[in-house]
Amino acid sequence: MSYRVLFVTAEYAPLAKTGGLADVSAALSRYLHARGDDVRVFIPLYRRIAEQPFERRPVEFLQNLGLSLGGQEYRYSVLSGRAPGSSLELYFIDCPALYDRPGIYTTEPDEHRRFVLLTRAAFECSQRMGFAPHILHCNDWHTAFGPLLLRTLYAWDRLFSATKSVLTIHNIGYQGIFSALEANALGLGEASWLLHQEDLAAGRINSLLHGILYADLVTTVSPTYAREICTPEYGVGLDGFLRVRGDRLVGILNGVDYEEWNPATDRHLPLHYSRDNPAGKAAVKQAFAERLRIAAGTDTLFVGLVSRLVAQKGIELLPMVLPSLLRARSIVFVAVGNGEPRFEESVAALQRAFPERVVYHRGYSEELAHWIEAASDAFLMPSLYEPCGLNQMYSLKYGTVPIVRRTGGLADSVSAYSPSTGQGTGIVFDHFDAPALRWALDATLALFARKDHWQRLVANGMAEDFSWTRQGALYIDQYRRLVGPD
Ligand code: ADP
Ligand code: GLC
Repeated sequence: MSYRVLFVTAEYAPLAKTGGLADVSAALSRYLHARGDDVRVFIPLYRRIAEQPFERRPVEFLQNLGLSLGGQEYRYSVLSGRAPGSSLELYFIDCPALYDRPGIYTTEPDEHRRFVLLTRAAFECSQRMGFAPHILHCNDWHTAFGPLLLRTLYAWDRLFSATKSVLTIHNIGYQGIFSALEANALGLGEASWLLHQEDLAAGRINSLLHGILYADLVTTVSPTYAREICTPEYGVGLDGFLRVRGDRLVGILNGVDYEEWNPATDRHLPLHYSRDNPAGKAAVKQAFAERLRIAAGTDTLFVGLVSRLVAQKGIELLPMVLPSLLRARSIVFVAVGNGEPRFEESVAALQRAFPERVVYHRGYSEELAHWIEAASDAFLMPSLYEPCGLNQMYSLKYGTVPIVRRTGGLADSVSAYSPSTGQGTGIVFDHFDAPALRWALDATLALFARKDHWQRLVANGMAEDFSWTRQGALYIDQYRRLVGPD
């Protein structure tokens, strides 16, 4: 027997991605599919997906359906199609009134309705497909009402009588808070008393909180982050609710899709290399330096960054630390990222100040992300918090030494290199401040100058394995715990 999984998510790589949620949704659902589970993935047909040229077709019996949210009637249809490079069929909710917009996310007042509709449509389509999931797997605030809807609005339907719900928290910093005046949009009717009453009285509804309260199991994307979010420092107001979930809160480190992130096969690179044949990395560095028109010889430490530019990622530390290093040492810094204008501006200012040593691409570029991973000697992730983080794991595979703060998934995937034992995979610092980051960069430069240590450090990282075959199995353990043997 295999599991039937209803998987609902706001992002799916490569079709609709702003960050790691997309990578993880795609990789985990494909892992389940490859294992023989019947996984049905529901995502919105955003404009940017509709504009992409891949094959999809209307699902005949799921056309022109109606759903009323807070007295407003929405019409939607369902299309199905395969994501590029996969045999897994995805279900796209085509509701132009909500999804035919420029971005994946918006700041418009109906933002919560866009994802409540997605969640409810996933239930209603399951009903019409006669699909009785063992597991309803929701992700982040967008689909966090799934567990409560399962216990209320859809509880009458025997199709769902054995369904257990899982909420995976990819980032507790985003909670989907909206006005209590919109309570009706959830369609809970008399069951509205199950909404968190104090919040309601204070005029707000917190989407993520309801997932935490009502899911049969809450998971998050690393064991350390699972502990951290139970503390006031990292819980963003939800730590008390998480503490009472006890062993119903589990941390599972994300995996890496090595078909996409592998220097031996990377389709974005003209040259390839691997652990057994590491020489090609220097050639990639050289080729990238030429492309960027910067001088970066073998003795120049090439530091990369690929990131959403938001407070979470520790971008504020860069202008405090990098200028003095760029002035004094042989180092170049190459970054791709976008996000908050103040951070974009601070990285752009670095580039203006050091035009020969800093290259910044303000924006999103899959191709550049792969080049930076491959060409850099070291990769910077000084995160304030990091639920899991994927780039440090990509870096390890690419022989690029991660410089990380010891938090969340960074702490679980990178170990500090010790010159005396030769063990360890990266440079790890503790405090979120400029001196600590400066220390980490100095330590990196010192090791970089000792080629014997550097080679050892790089080789240790390249030997690591964060494949989904390992990490996915941990999700199966949890599914089994909820519904019994598969
Ligand atoms: P988060 O989900 O918090 O952004 P992760 O490290 O889990 O952090 O995942 C980020 C993902 O998004 C990685 O696959 C990374 O390569 C990608 N990414 C982030 N910013 C950019 C960008 N500007 N251009 C290309 N890829 C990006
Ligand atoms: C979030 C987190 C990131 C994590 C990703 C996928 O966006 O910020 O750390 O890797 O989700 O789970």
